Amino acid sequence: MIRIPVSTPSRSYEVLIGSGLLADAGECLGEIVGNRRVFVVTAPAIRRRWSKPLLQSLAKAGMRVNLLEMQDGEPSKRLATLEKLAEKLVKAGADRGILLIALGGGVVGDVTGFLASIYMRGVDVIQAPTTVLAQVDAAIGGKTGVNLQSGKNLLGTFHQPRAVLIDPAVLATLPAREYRAGLYESLKCGIIGDPGLFRMFEDRRRELLDRDTAVVEKVIADSVRLKASVVSADEREGGLRQVLNLGHTIGHAIEAETRYVQLLHGEAVAWGMIAATHIALSTGKLDSVTAGRITSTILSLGRLPRMKIQTASIVKRLHSDKKTRQGVVHFILPRDIGKVEIVSDVSEPAIKLAVEEIRKLARN
Ligand SMILES: NC(=O)c1ccc[n+]([C@@H]2O[C@H](COP(=O)([O-])OP(=O)(O)OC[C@H]3O[C@@H](n4cnc5c(N)ncnc54)[C@H](O)[C@@H]3O)[C@@H](O)[C@H]2O)c1
Ligand SMILES: [Zn+2]
Repeated sequence: MIRIPVSTPSRSYEVLIGSGLLADAGECLGEIVGNRRVFVVTAPAIRRRWSKPLLQSLAKAGMRVNLLEMQDGEPSKRLATLEKLAEKLVKAGADRGILLIALGGGVVGDVTGFLASIYMRGVDVIQAPTTVLAQVDAAIGGKTGVNLQSGKNLLGTFHQPRAVLIDPAVLATLPAREYRAGLYESLKCGIIGDPGLFRMFEDRRRELLDRDTAVVEKVIADSVRLKASVVSADEREGGLRQVLNLGHTIGHAIEAETRYVQLLHGEAVAWGMIAATHIALSTGKLDSVTAGRITSTILSLGRLPRMKIQTASIVKRLHSDKKTRQGVVHFILPRDIGKVEIVSDVSEPAIKLAVEEIRKLARN
């Protein structure tokens, strides 16, 4: 088992990673859970495939465990779902001393984390992420939230988990498209700060796409290590944590422009990273060989879905993104593999050229 520490001002905890770890959850989490009642929150598809080893292991360790279900998918990531879960908790007699375990993708994790942060003014949560995206990103760092009609993740809290339990074996049942979409976030970690991780994508791509256990475990662990170190240095996105938004400036605009239906989040981020790489190249911050390596590695993971976007509307959306601070659009640009820079003075022509470039690539 791999243990990666996350240390923030509000809490320090460990991310535990190992294939088959769900079946050892009772043993690994015994000390943290103590004699508290545990409520596992999950969604039907994940319950059917993966709840059994977790529940059995917790029960074997003598824990009192209940299972709560919510519907999965982005439309369920809203306050109404949280309210329903809270009512179920009250009916089951849950008091302030309970502990929640989120077993699922980012949607289950974000909803459960948010619920934990406000149920009876706050209870503990353990994240047990089951998608690549949730394992390398959503489950670590304590951001929770739900969507409003007006936009994504507009309600939320920071609530660090007590632990994160990652079992890469659960990724075996993930649909191929979801699996790949999560890998772009992992590749992002390589570009931000881990050249070795980036090289895994170049050298071990076949095994990674075939979900070879050892390769997947290494890629997940290295990505977690990167995210954990960034979050530990900057819990609340004061500055450094922004680097995790590589590819997200234009990625978010693309997601909104395609109404959140054509692309998965990771796929939009992949296009966004290609655009950021183009901007870095055209503004002289990155050499053409490295830019080519980044772009071709992103494209080598598989065909990104086609999309219809207008350059002008993407540029307009950049200014309304919630990450915009005082009207200034921030870009995270690669300077090298493993090194990025936060830049706020990218010219509009450079942005337009980059969007034109991905429009061209998306048509081919
Ligand atoms: N809190 C954060 O810091 C943070 C960071 C990034 C993303 N997010 C959020 O995460 C959400 C996206 O998460 P996601 O990509 O995990 O999507 P998701 O939670 O919607 O899961 C994707 C699909 O995969 C299914 N699934 C999950 N695990 C499975 C498994 N092991 N086998 C088979 N099917 C499985 C789910 O049922 C769902 O249909 C978004 O709402 C996003 O805002 C949060
Ligand atoms: Zn992301």
